Amino acid sequence: MDRIITAFTDEVHPAYGQIATVDADGHPHVRTVHWRYVTSRNAIGCVCYSDSEKWRHLQLRQVYEGCYFDQTQQMQFRWEGKVELIDGRSAEDQALLSALWEQLRPEVRASYWAQHLHGAPTQPLGAAVNLNERCPMCVAILTIPDRWDIYDINPTNFRQGNRTICTRAGTQWCAEIVSLFFRRG
Ligand SMILES: Cc1cc2nc3c(=O)[nH]c(=O)nc-3n(C[C@H](O)[C@H](O)[C@H](O)COP(=O)(O)O)c2cc1C
Repeated sequence: MDRIITAFTDEVHPAYGQIATVDADGHPHVRTVHWRYVTSRNAIGCVCYSDSEKWRHLQLRQVYEGCYFDQTQQMQFRWEGKVELIDGRSAEDQALLSALWEQLRPEVRASYWAQHLHGAPTQPLGAAVNLNERCPMCVAILTIPDRWDIYDINPTNFRQGNRTICTRAGTQWCAEIVSLFFRRG
């Protein structure tokens, strides 16, 4: 667990990883997001625009797979499980969104506002726009993993890499070391 939290809280090496979602026709879509460990929810989350495809897909079908290769730790993390769509309806969610908004770089915040107000992220913003105020289109995806597939590569000897599957049963986690070529079923 420590290595997971380390991977997703590293501000020097942001966790740019992927989230795969599925559209209404069952077609997969994958794209890069900035994953962060959200301490208050014990979840791995990312911020996105509420009109984005990923958000729409997850509204339709709450299935995803996350993936991140941590170059510092030389580990690949893949995970799946439940998802929570944080749209700011409850006061608790608003507080979480505001905290995540604060972590965004000013130019990212500006792109959200420009898209929201002018339909394009590159449009200039008037001085009236306060970038400290959260854009209403800023939402968050929280992934609550119940399965981790952690691949610890050995850079000098491929065959000495380790792969561990961690599954959750209630509050307990069970870890199993498997072959590098393990497959389900
Ligand atoms: C390094 C990097 C980090 C990114 N981080 C995010 C992010 O945190 N959230 C996000 O919505 N899009 C992020 N993007 C953009 C997405 O990859 C994607 O292009 C965009 O969100 C539209 O995806 P969608 O329409 O399939 O939802 C990032 C792209 C890159 C290259």
